[in-house]
Amino acid sequence: MTARTSLTVVLAAGEGTRMRSSLPKVLHQIAGRSMLAHVLAATPHGGGNAVAVVVGPDHQKVIDEAKRVSPNAATFVQSERLGTAHALLAARQAIAKGADDLLIVFGDTPLIDESTFARLRAPLKDGAALTVLGFRAKDPTGYGRLLVQGNKLIAIREHGDASEAERKITLCNAGVMAMDGKSALKILDRIGNGNSKGEYYLTDAVSIVGELGRPAVVIETNEDEVRGINTKSQLAEAEQVMQDKLRKAALEAGVTMTAPETVFLAADTTFGRDVTIEPFVVFGPGVSVADGAVIHSFSNIVGAKIGKNASVGPYARLRPGTVLGDDTRIGNFVEVKAASIDKGAKANHLAYIGDSHVGESANIGAGTITCNYDGFDKHRTEIGAGAFIGTNSSLVAPVKIGKGAYIGSGSVVTRDVPDDALMVERSEAAVRPGWAKKFRDMKLLNRKPKA
Ligand code: UD1
Ligand code: MG
Repeated sequence: MTARTSLTVVLAAGEGTRMRSSLPKVLHQIAGRSMLAHVLAATPHGGGNAVAVVVGPDHQKVIDEAKRVSPNAATFVQSERLGTAHALLAARQAIAKGADDLLIVFGDTPLIDESTFARLRAPLKDGAALTVLGFRAKDPTGYGRLLVQGNKLIAIREHGDASEAERKITLCNAGVMAMDGKSALKILDRIGNGNSKGEYYLTDAVSIVGELGRPAVVIETNEDEVRGINTKSQLAEAEQVMQDKLRKAALEAGVTMTAPETVFLAADTTFGRDVTIEPFVVFGPGVSVADGAVIHSFSNIVGAKIGKNASVGPYARLRPGTVLGDDTRIGNFVEVKAASIDKGAKANHLAYIGDSHVGESANIGAGTITCNYDGFDKHRTEIGAGAFIGTNSSLVAPVKIGKGAYIGSGSVVTRDVPDDALMVERSEAAVRPGWAKKFRDMKLLNRKPKA
């Protein structure tokens, strides 16, 4: 039997006014990744699995993000916000292609697990017309209630339209659904807007399916997975849920963390074997940490590749484009940006290395700064293998320090230095014996009250 095809439609036309932000709601981030990207990552992809995203008017940024994450995603604009069924039908053109399974998910429900889509699709294969993801809500206020008889789903009643008795039901609609793709348009086109809000409710699909004599099914999950985000408080709660999940996964993969609750991960952080992360480390997106590396406390790491047995921090800042080779050491108060540091090289304290390449086993002394910016452009610094940069040196880019070269402390390097050369730029020191005492005596004399 050939695999069933699917179309996932992500509804993301929400205004998100309660976020109190100029950023569209689904672009807010959880673990360094937009909510929309989380949802898209969980949807079936590859092969015969297509994706469509429905956005609101003036949501070019949402379209851009959808295309960035899923270049093949089709995007549709819902020009008026007339309800979830109306939003889904904005993607009519994609639905009309008649994939076997039509999956619907909200863009503001970012914690949905990939496996849930497989569970939702299973009953369709056995002839169900519709499956709905349900959960037991601690507080069901505001959610659509699932009205079931035995294991048959009869209807979904929106909170505003529910009777007192129906409001006592705690089994709620998570908003994620799967429909028989071949009959989806027939069902969706029958949905009207005769309810308390005057909206086209997707949830009415359930009773329509019943009228057509076809079965609808509930698949249950836990409340955490289907949290919807409408406010910054809910965003922060979802972040916690996601962080716990990522920390557990890292621990299970063998990462050592003495205080995992103080370590913040990104959804795409990857670890090799025997990695240690000390307390209070923050990872942004795009970080990989290879075998045996140690990340010491209070380090902030974004867009960096960390090599085997490297040591980072405490108090290190690695910015995008950092590539640390094996056995490198980046110590306290060192910032690295867009720079490759080759095997065994060290910058142990107080340095800025930007737009640079540091060769194997080079040593960067404390207080070394690459002056990479002239107010207009960025320039590169090249430091050869085995070079020694004395403390408190300024390397004014573009500049090249040769292999094995030696830079005397306190130098301002404005010209290239050949291999194995010494470069030192320093004004002559003056030492005047007795000068300080004479100076002091004169000052004290002048201060005496005049008789
Ligand atoms: C919806 C469900 C409810 C469920 C709840 C779960 C309906 C009618 N109700 O209610 O049963 O318990 O979600 O959170 O489906 N959207 C659009 N265009 C629209 C309207 C909505 O794109 O015209 C999008 C929103 O951006 C959002 C999603 O659809 O992502 C749900 O809309 P929302 O207004 O939040 O529905 P709820 O009242 O929460
Ligand atoms: Mg909602």
